[in-house]
Amino acid sequence: MRIVVTLYILVCSSSGLSEYLEAGQNILTPENWAHVGRVTPTEELDLTFALKQQNVEQLEELLHLVSDPSSAQYGKYVTLEEVSTLVRPSQLTQKVVRQWLQSHGVSDCQSVLTQDFLQCTMTVRLAEDLLPGSEFHRYTSDGQSLVRSSTSYQVHKDVFEHLDFVGGVHRFPPRGRDQNKVSMKKRRSDAKFHLGVTPAALRARYNLTAADVGSAQNNSQAVAQFLEQFYHPADLAEFMMLFGKGFQHRSDVDRVVGTQGGGKAGIEASLDVEYIMSAGANISTWVFSNPGRHESQEPFLQWLLLLSNMTDLPWVHTISYGDDEDSLSTAYMMRINTEFMKAGVRGLSMLFASGDSGAGCKHLTGGGNTFRPSFPASSPYVTTVGGTSFKNPFKITYEVTDYISGGGFSNVFKMPDYQVGAVKAYLKAESALPPKMYFNTSGRAYPDLAALSDNYWVVSDRVPIPWVSGTSASTPVVGGILSLINDQRFLKGLPALGFLNPRLYQLQGQGLFDVTDGCHLACLDEQVQGKGFCAARSWDPVTGWGTPDYPVLLAALLK
Ligand SMILES: *[C@@H]1O[C@H](CO)[C@@H](O)[C@H](O)[C@H]1NC(C)=O
Ligand SMILES: *[C@@H]1O[C@H](CO)[C@@H](O)[C@H](O)[C@H]1NC(C)=O
Ligand SMILES: *[C@@H]1O[C@H](CO)[C@@H](O)[C@H](O)[C@H]1NC(C)=O
Ligand SMILES: *[C@@H]1O[C@H](CO)[C@@H](O)[C@H](O)[C@H]1NC(C)=O
Ligand SMILES: *[C@@H]1O[C@H](CO)[C@@H](O)[C@H](O)[C@H]1NC(C)=O
Repeated sequence: MRIVVTLYILVCSSSGLSEYLEAGQNILTPENWAHVGRVTPTEELDLTFALKQQNVEQLEELLHLVSDPSSAQYGKYVTLEEVSTLVRPSQLTQKVVRQWLQSHGVSDCQSVLTQDFLQCTMTVRLAEDLLPGSEFHRYTSDGQSLVRSSTSYQVHKDVFEHLDFVGGVHRFPPRGRDQNKVSMKKRRSDAKFHLGVTPAALRARYNLTAADVGSAQNNSQAVAQFLEQFYHPADLAEFMMLFGKGFQHRSDVDRVVGTQGGGKAGIEASLDVEYIMSAGANISTWVFSNPGRHESQEPFLQWLLLLSNMTDLPWVHTISYGDDEDSLSTAYMMRINTEFMKAGVRGLSMLFASGDSGAGCKHLTGGGNTFRPSFPASSPYVTTVGGTSFKNPFKITYEVTDYISGGGFSNVFKMPDYQVGAVKAYLKAESALPPKMYFNTSGRAYPDLAALSDNYWVVSDRVPIPWVSGTSASTPVVGGILSLINDQRFLKGLPALGFLNPRLYQLQGQGLFDVTDGCHLACLDEQVQGKGFCAARSWDPVTGWGTPDYPVLLAALLK
């Protein structure tokens, strides 16, 4: 009955008011994208509608219960069907949104199993009519082309409360690592005699023996890549031939989800696959590659839709993707957090790189600077991985901060309970904190842990390349190590680690090499002079709790 009444109102007030859905979303074109021109009204694009979910608070409570070892529900993960029963939008929401789309002539829509996303193909004319204020233009960068609106969009006030955001309108894909950055680091180090990080160096440092490889039946891990670049199976094979000695491993990816273009191999793409398969050796590995068919799609969002549309997924996912937290709407980030919770209650571990700009820097309009956190690194519902370097680059000895390691405090998400003790202890003990106006001590602090991120050897386009650096290297390494621990848990009949953070912080650093030397970079201004936070005993916002000591970490997590 209520549904009928609401639809009636919707139809009767179709000429009525609209409202902005995504306050705070940056709509400026990133500087590396060139404007081509207006898109013709008859061209087609794909928009993604994030429908308002139900029971998000219950979902959060469930995540807490299944991820906290002191709870009786620890490890009692649920299926995607059960997630769907919990969060799927109300009948009213589904009807109102569909009716709104249909009344504009939009009928070509696909949903996901959880029914909380709708993806619809329509002409530009229809899209601009549906989203008052929007105006679609084409942009190019590096041979890549996409369609975005240069102006903010509104939605009809009757659907406003039924939507979280519309995808494909504003957010540009972040650019990946460029060759310049790689070679810049090369000049900084005495490269000629440098040891370089190889699978053997990593396995030695983190105390992995030849016997520490996967053997459980249903174990699996994945890397997700959203840049216009691809891993090449031949690169992976060559990498394993050159560097895969001394431990049993696989040389093939088991499954590629999405489009693996025939284009050039990317260093980033090669790095992720080569290193998750070296740390998580002999474990079935998937690659989620640049999903999305349309120039209007957001690849990261497409990947999240896939997660809600696939019942069987790898247990561990590592992702090197991030954007400035202040460039994204809170509505969008809140919804992405809910997607991470949906993954967590299924027992999936989501690992994000902490970023390669240290504490970051944002120039304030009134003058002065502040640090600049990155999202999803700053999400309370993912595990964030920072970076380290060998203290002595010629030896496999202890690790110090890699000055690029992303870290800091969210300005959007409050500090989750699981980390309050650790972060407060750091803030209290640290005598050389940056000035208060640079960061927000009430926010979610990251990273959670770290691994080597400096001077990796990678094979890309059949060529071995040294000096590849960044937290996109450390993240798949930690991912592979967590997969090895999952493997041992499966062999004992235990459930997967799932969302690790509550348990990780309870370990209080057990099983992790504490990194206590060095600071990461930040604003180059008089106040902080390029220095952000510094590593310290126990947890710190540069390297988290430290880097994995596999046998000890395994023992601590094999219960
Ligand atoms: C979800 O999966 C179903 C079944 O495979 C498919 O028909 C649908 O198009 C998918 N949804 C999206 C948004 O791709
Ligand atoms: C683990 O590694 C550390 C540092 O490399 C080393 O001191 C320690 O002896 C190793 N432990 C084991 C059990 O191999
Ligand atoms: C590698 O994994 C397979 C199962 O995928 C297993 O049968 C084999 O024993 C593993 N190798 C080692 C050395 O454990
Ligand atoms: C592995 O997966 C298959 C089907 O997905 C299932 O039948 C089997 O019980 C699983 N094995 C283990 C060890 O969990
Ligand atoms: C600080 O973080 C909190 C969330 O923990 C947020 O509500 C607040 O707006 C932030 N302050 C600033 C100045 O960004």
